[in-house]
Amino acid sequence: MSTAFQRMSPLAGQVAVITGAGSGIGLATARLFATCGARLALVDRERESLAALAREFPAALLLSGDVGDPAVVADHAAAVAEQCGPMDILVTAAGWSDGKSVADGDFAGWRAVLGTVLDGTYLWAQQGARAMAERGGAIVMVGSQLALAGGRSNAAYLAGKGAVMSLARSMALDHAEQGIRVNTVIPGAIETPLLARSFARSPDPAAARARSVARHPMGRLGRAEEVAQAILFLAGDTASFTTGSCVMVDGGWLAG
Ligand SMILES: NC(=O)c1ccc[n+]([C@@H]2O[C@H](COP(=O)([O-])OP(=O)(O)OC[C@H]3O[C@@H](n4cnc5c(N)ncnc54)[C@H](O)[C@@H]3O)[C@@H](O)[C@H]2O)c1
Repeated sequence: MSTAFQRMSPLAGQVAVITGAGSGIGLATARLFATCGARLALVDRERESLAALAREFPAALLLSGDVGDPAVVADHAAAVAEQCGPMDILVTAAGWSDGKSVADGDFAGWRAVLGTVLDGTYLWAQQGARAMAERGGAIVMVGSQLALAGGRSNAAYLAGKGAVMSLARSMALDHAEQGIRVNTVIPGAIETPLLARSFARSPDPAAARARSVARHPMGRLGRAEEVAQAILFLAGDTASFTTGSCVMVDGGWLAG
């Protein structure tokens, strides 16, 4: 493989699993990884999103189901191994929030959010670590600036994202000698359907959006493509000495 080819297709021949690939940051990552030559396995639970993915990525393996269900994840990981080969890269982007404080929510809601945000990350990371044990690889988890800076009315989501960041550091140590790098990307507020739903829960969505824009020193919201670029860096060989790390893509939110 020539150096020029590697530059043009830095993920050529690599098997990349992306959860939450049907929308937002996961979708932008799938698009970027496709241009970099990766063999894609795309996970989502929304049937319409999967149908759109099938049209856009006819060569990808599409996996429909809940990342928080251990049996589903085990089946999906087996399908990746059988149809694509050993996993080289895992990006865990599936996530959602319910906009509830502890007092406003209930245990079922708490478990539902953590089922995706934390259990879904753990279950896929476990499959990734096992699949990468012999050859190494890269795991990129999507965290949140709110887990570090704090945020109101999103207790389960913030608790889960904080745990994801700790999970990434823990795995980085446990699997460093196997050549598995584990890192977290920390987005600010990114223009995606998740953020639109979050604003829509506010009594005044336009004001909520304006407050969020103002909270970023760069004076705007982020784009999913900007987060995908950081994920590509962490997933690829250019980050060969980077593990247990967090890369912020937050327009300066956490610096303020
Ligand atoms: N958008 C932001 O401002 C922002 C900020 C910080 C962190 N994040 C994180 O980035 C990640 C991607 O978010 P996004 O903004 O692109 O959201 P999004 O809603 O646009 O996309 C998330 C995707 O995950 C899928 N998904 C959700 N739960 C799932 C489950 N249990 N099983 C399978 N698929 C599931 C959804 O169907 C959707 O396609 C999430 O982890 C989110 O918490 C987003």
